[in-house]
This record gives sequence, structure tokens and C-alpha cells, in this order.
Amino acid sequence: MKFPLILLGILIETCVCTRAECSESTFKAILASVPESSLNYVAHVPANGSFGDAASNVPFPQNATMLPELCAASVNMKTSQNTSYDFGVFLPAHWNARFMMTGNGGLGGGINWLDMGLNQPEKLINWGYRAIHGSATAAKTIIGAYYMGDIQYSYYASCSTGGRQGLKEIQLHPETFDGVVVGAPAWWTTHLQTWTLKQGLTNFPDAGPGHIPESLFSTITDDMLHQCDTQDGLLDQVIGDPLACNFDFNQLLCQPNQNKSACLTAAQIGTAEKLYRPYLDPSQNQLFPGISLGSNAAALSTQPTGLGIDFLRYWVFNDSNWDFTQFKIGDVALADAVNPGNATADNFDLSPFLERGGKLIHYHGLADPLRAAESSQHFYNQVYRTLAPRGVQIDDFYRFFFIPGMSHCMGSDVAPWYIGGGTQFVPGISHSVPGFMDRQHDVILAIMAWVEKGDMPDQIIATKFRNDTDPQHIASQRPICSYPRQARYDGWAEPGQPSSWKCLL
Ligand SMILES: *[C@@H]1O[C@H](CO)[C@@H](O)[C@H](O)[C@H]1NC(C)=O
Ligand SMILES: *[C@@H]1O[C@H](CO)[C@@H](O)[C@H](O)[C@H]1NC(C)=O
Ligand SMILES: *[C@@H]1O[C@H](CO)[C@@H](O)[C@H](O)[C@H]1NC(C)=O
Ligand SMILES: *[C@@H]1O[C@H](CO)[C@@H](O)[C@H](O)[C@H]1NC(C)=O
Ligand SMILES: *[C@@H]1O[C@H](CO)[C@@H](O)[C@H](O)[C@H]1NC(C)=O
Ligand SMILES: *[C@@H]1O[C@H](CO)[C@@H](O)[C@H](O)[C@H]1NC(C)=O
Ligand SMILES: *[C@@H]1O[C@H](CO)[C@@H](O)[C@H](O)[C@H]1NC(C)=O
Repeated sequence: MKFPLILLGILIETCVCTRAECSESTFKAILASVPESSLNYVAHVPANGSFGDAASNVPFPQNATMLPELCAASVNMKTSQNTSYDFGVFLPAHWNARFMMTGNGGLGGGINWLDMGLNQPEKLINWGYRAIHGSATAAKTIIGAYYMGDIQYSYYASCSTGGRQGLKEIQLHPETFDGVVVGAPAWWTTHLQTWTLKQGLTNFPDAGPGHIPESLFSTITDDMLHQCDTQDGLLDQVIGDPLACNFDFNQLLCQPNQNKSACLTAAQIGTAEKLYRPYLDPSQNQLFPGISLGSNAAALSTQPTGLGIDFLRYWVFNDSNWDFTQFKIGDVALADAVNPGNATADNFDLSPFLERGGKLIHYHGLADPLRAAESSQHFYNQVYRTLAPRGVQIDDFYRFFFIPGMSHCMGSDVAPWYIGGGTQFVPGISHSVPGFMDRQHDVILAIMAWVEKGDMPDQIIATKFRNDTDPQHIASQRPICSYPRQARYDGWAEPGQPSSWKCLL
């Protein structure tokens, strides 16, 4: 049951549902009605407590801190004779009748992905989409039974692989969530993972004449800043619109007698261009976009990484001896044909999600070196091309935001980037944006206001805290704008103030 309480003139809706005891017997009874489930453990967490399984959880080694009083439970879901996945739930003592879910990063999910071994399609399907849907469904059952009340709204927020998982879920099961926030989604799995290997091989082997040593990558990004920064009207160490910058790689070319530690040879310029340009097939179709100007290409190109090698080795070729230097462009088509775990989230017809009233916020850092920001723009454009001809106003249910200067999911040396999104982390902040806990600054509150009150998120103000470590002091704030609008500086006011910027087409 749900009662609106009037407190000091502010309408606060709170569920005064009876709640069950935080005990093993409670959960064993609830899980009796959830097929293939079993309880791992249950724990009571006091107010301002911390909780996690840091010691045994490879990808998530940090505990959640400053928690409200809650009951934590971990559940195992069997998916075949010898495969399963785990999920966890936090059940606050004071529940607001909402369900909020988050996803994973990379190729893992609380499980070291190499553990998955060879040719275990059931495990790949868990990673691909089954674990998210099964966890959401089982968690809803647990929540309803624990509070003996109905969930009013269901939400999802996560970044990277978690972003892909959110998009995949609304494509397969449009009814699961009312509001979804995805950051830097790794949605084009088969192309992204193969492009990742291609990036590593472009600057490989170390001995080739076109090889760019790690120390030279900052020379490249410095020159991008030099050439592109002012093109948005303000010299502020942030490239506002790298996609529109007309960058001349040849300005990096070493002049006669120049010290080669801060310039590139013609062969190195050829390598750099390949790292930033789109990856094309022989018919010039784009297999994957290049990283944006200003992103540091060193992240994927100093060494081919496991994100590319292992995906092909274990999930596409099923051959632990597969030699990654033999990678060829046709392997992208092979990866598409295998589509490990059916993970790729490329059903652009989001009309079933739209028709059930779903809202989607999607963002991507424009200095993301791991998942090219333009892959998100490509997703948005594909949805637009699919739905706009049917008369759908995309803005009414789907907003996409570029975040200038932000790296993968979080972080920037100079640009405001913090919006309280999935995996965004500032020490000392457990949730939301301290001092600015409102829908204008916090993307989670923005999706809730959109779903529950119809407040459209035309812009969200991103925050940079001093040194990214001091939540008491704001270094700067700036609006990020619903695509295709961009933040334009007004030309004279304080650039660190959000009011100095306007979202314009
Ligand atoms: C919450 O816990 C932290 C760390 O355990 C502690 O420093 C802080 O004082 C506590 N806050 C409150 C309000 O109890
Ligand atoms: C994390 O939380 C668990 C259980 O809540 C506790 O046992 C463990 O000591 C904590 N670890 C850290 C690093 O705080
Ligand atoms: C898992 O079980 C299947 C049959 O259910 C079997 O074929 C397979 O070899 C098992 N895999 C492992 C790693 O035990
Ligand atoms: C080139 O510059 C680097 C770094 O500034 C310096 O360490 C190196 O000695 C210089 N090399 C020459 C040949 O001057
Ligand atoms: C690898 O195994 C998967 C099933 O897990 C299969 O679909 C795929 O075709 C295999 N790859 C090759 C190259 O045979
Ligand atoms: C994967 O997708 C293909 C094509 O849509 C479908 O035929 C197949 O059943 C799916 N497999 C699983 C395990 O979902
Ligand atoms: C923190 O930021 C301030 C100004 O924003 C700067 O002066 C100071 O050097 C920074 N401290 C560290 C440790 O980076």
C-alpha cells in the first residue's frame, strides 16, 4: 500500500508497507517461488554501514559505503547443469516503492571471464542478456514479497557493458523498466571487440617504422587540443565538438633537425590517422567509427588488449592457441555470424519500449578512448532513422548526450563530467551530486522526473569537483545538451558557471 504523506508542505510519497524480517528463512520462502534460484547469503546492514564482497569479487573490489539501513541478499540462478549467475539486492528499511538496477563492466560480471573457459555457450548467454533479465525478474519478485507491496517504478542505470545490457534488455523485454540510463554502451559487441583488437594491431609490432611509442601520444592529443579547442568559441582545454574539428595530422610532422621526442615521422602520422579514422571494410562500409579527436589512442594501441584478443580467441574461434596477429578484416563478419551470447544490442526499433511508456537517457564521453563516442551517435542515428519516418518524435522518449572531455564513463582533467551516472565515482560521494541533489544535476533524478512527472531532460549540468576528489568544492559546472544541441559559451561570463552556457542547435 502507498500513502502520500504531507510533511512541512512537501509532498513525500512513501510506502509504509510492512516489511519482512531480514533473515535466511524469509528469503528461502520467497525464493521457493523463483525457478532455479537459491540463496547465497543474507545480511543486515546498519545505517551508514558498508557492504560488499570485495575479497571474492574481481571486477568490483570496492564496498558500497554510507548506506541507509538495509537488508542485503545474494542469489544464485542456475542456467544449466553446470552454469549459473549471481545477483544481489539491497532492500532498504525505508522503501520508496522504486526498483533500481545496475549492470557490469567489460567482459566480466563478478566472475573472471577467463574462468568461463572454452565453448560454454550457456555462460555466454548469461553474459549476453540472460543474467540481466533473470535478475530483474527475480529481484522484482523478491521486492514485492519482502515489502508486501507493489513496485511503482522500475529503473536501470549503468555504463559500458552495463550500458549494453540496458539497451539489450529494452530491446528484448520492453516491459522490464520504466526508465533506463545508459552510459558509453558497448552495444555493437562484435564490431567493438574486433575494432579493439584492430586498434592494438595498428601500432604493432613495436619494431615497425610507423610504431608510435607511448610517450608520443600526449604530443598527438596536445596538438588536437591546440588545433580544435578554440573551434567551440572558448580556449579552455576542452574540445567542445571534436566531430566538427578540421584536424590536420601533418602539423605533427617533424621538421628537419627537430627533436623527434615531440613530433611524428611520416610513417607515424600514417599510424595515427588509422587510429582515429573509421574502420572500413573493403567496400568502404564503416565497421566501427574511430575515436574522437582529443581522446588518447594509447589506451588500446600500446598493446593489443584482452578485450579484443580474448573475445576472438575464446568466444569466436574457441581456440586458446589462436594467434591474434593473424586477425583479418573478414573475422568481423565471422564474429557477426557467431555473435557470442547474442550480446550485440542492435535492434534499433525501440517502438515497443516507447509504446509502453519507457524513457531512455544515453550519454557518452567525447574523449572516450575505449569505446568510440561516435558508436553511440551511430546508435542514436539508427533509432532516429527507424522511428522518425513513422512520425515518432524521438525527443519524447529518448535523449542522447555527448559529454565533452569525458573519458570512458567518467573522468576528465579539466571538463565537468560528474552527473551521478553508473560507475561514476568520486571519493566521499555515495550517491547523487552533493549540494545539487536535483534533476538538473543528477541523471538518476532526471530519469525519475521524466518518467514520473514528464519533466523533459533538455540539459543536465555536469560538475567537476576540485581535483575530482573534493565533493565540498566545485571546480566548474557546465550543461551537457540533449543531442544534437551543443553547449555554446556566451562569450564573456565566468566559464565555470553553467549560466554562461546555452544549449543551441
Ligand atoms: C558514517 O561512516 C563514516 C565512515 O565509517 C564516518 O566517518 C561518518 O562519521 C559516519 N557518519 C555518520 C552520520 O554517522
Ligand atoms: C566490505 O564489506 C564486507 C561485508 O559487509 C566486510 O566484511 C568487509 O570487511 C568490507 N571490506 C572493506 C574493504 O571494507
Ligand atoms: C557441462 O555440462 C554439459 C552437459 O550438461 C557437458 O556437456 C559439459 O561438458 C559440462 N562442462 C563442464 C565444463 O563441465
Ligand atoms: C629531445 O628531447 C628530450 C625531452 O625533452 C630530451 O630528453 C632529449 O635529450 C632530446 N634529444 C636531443 C637529441 O636533443
Ligand atoms: C565457437 O563456438 C560457438 C558455440 O559456442 C559456435 O557458435 C561457433 O561457430 C564456434 N566458432 C567456430 C569458429 O567454429
Ligand atoms: C540468438 O539470436 C538468433 C537470431 O536472432 C536466434 O535464432 C537464437 O535463438 C538466439 N539464441 C539465443 C540463445 O538466444
Ligand atoms: C587541487 O586543485 C587545486 C585547484 O583546483 C590545485 O591548486 C591543487 O594543486 C590541486 N591539488 C592536487 C593535489 O592536485
